[in-house]
Amino acid sequence: MQTFIQNIPKAELHVHLEGTLEPELSFSLAAKNGVDLDYKTPEELIAAYDFYDLPSFLKIYYAAMNVLVDEDDFYQLTYAYLKKASEQNTIYAELFFDPQAHTSRGVSFDTVITGIHNAQVAAEQNLGIKSQLILCFLRDMSAESAMEHLELAFPYQDWIVGVGLDSDERNNPPIKFAKVFAKAKEKGLKLTMHCDVNQLNTLVHIEQCIEQIEVDRIDHGVNALESEMLCSLIKNKNLGLTVCPVSNQFVVQSLTSNEVHDMLEKDLLVTINSDDPAYFRAYLNENLLALQKEGDFSQAQIITLVENAFKVAWLDEDLKQAYL
Ligand code: HPA
Ligand code: ZN
Repeated sequence: MQTFIQNIPKAELHVHLEGTLEPELSFSLAAKNGVDLDYKTPEELIAAYDFYDLPSFLKIYYAAMNVLVDEDDFYQLTYAYLKKASEQNTIYAELFFDPQAHTSRGVSFDTVITGIHNAQVAAEQNLGIKSQLILCFLRDMSAESAMEHLELAFPYQDWIVGVGLDSDERNNPPIKFAKVFAKAKEKGLKLTMHCDVNQLNTLVHIEQCIEQIEVDRIDHGVNALESEMLCSLIKNKNLGLTVCPVSNQFVVQSLTSNEVHDMLEKDLLVTINSDDPAYFRAYLNENLLALQKEGDFSQAQIITLVENAFKVAWLDEDLKQAYL
């Protein structure tokens, strides 16, 4: 099964670039930029990872970003992920980035997006892996800040395929960002939002995403299974769900394989993804393999999960067909 999973050409639709920051790269960037890390070795840093819910993860995730300072740092971060993905036979990826986590530290939007974009171009040329970029807004910051960052992105619109919403979901419902997402849609950008597993008011958040924001995809969205009405909406609108098994395990102590089975049975367009692979210590193949082991998925079911990712990818139809 391991070889089978390795060999299938895959797509990944839910991966945060900042969540691909490997401890070794952290140490090398910290040394270069004169940033203090609190830990002596990458192993010590990994040993300090202690995630049991979304806020406990986010605290460590944001703190680690201080080592990302100049354009080349963002280039190295992005290129390292694309190289790793390419080695796993991922041939297409949609990448989230969190500009507000950098501008709030005095790093300019231009620095961040130019470093990322140049790495995407180089990786496509050198490694053959295609990728597109999704600008994520931090939902625990204001709607005004999100709108300002959307406007910062307008001059770079050719480099961005869509917008997303991540970070701490508690008391930050989708509707808070209705105007920002309406504006993004008006500009021709695709829309997605996180509805992480087992969050407060998650069913309300999923419904708002679909009915009010009119998203094109939902990130996670596992709890939709608790509502027949939401499942019907997701199915009728052909919305992809980007499920992240190893990420979920930190919150619900399961890779949510039963839920993935249920989604397949209901013919929902469920896809498998790594979310923050450097932190959760699992890239796409490790996610697929762990899920398969827990849920005893057949090879045909694994292929369906992989094909779903190409089906709901934000690619032109002819390119999609070439992959499928
Ligand atoms: N959920 C919400 N926000 C995030 C995540 C996540 O899994 N990863 C990075 N930002
Ligand atoms: Zn995520």
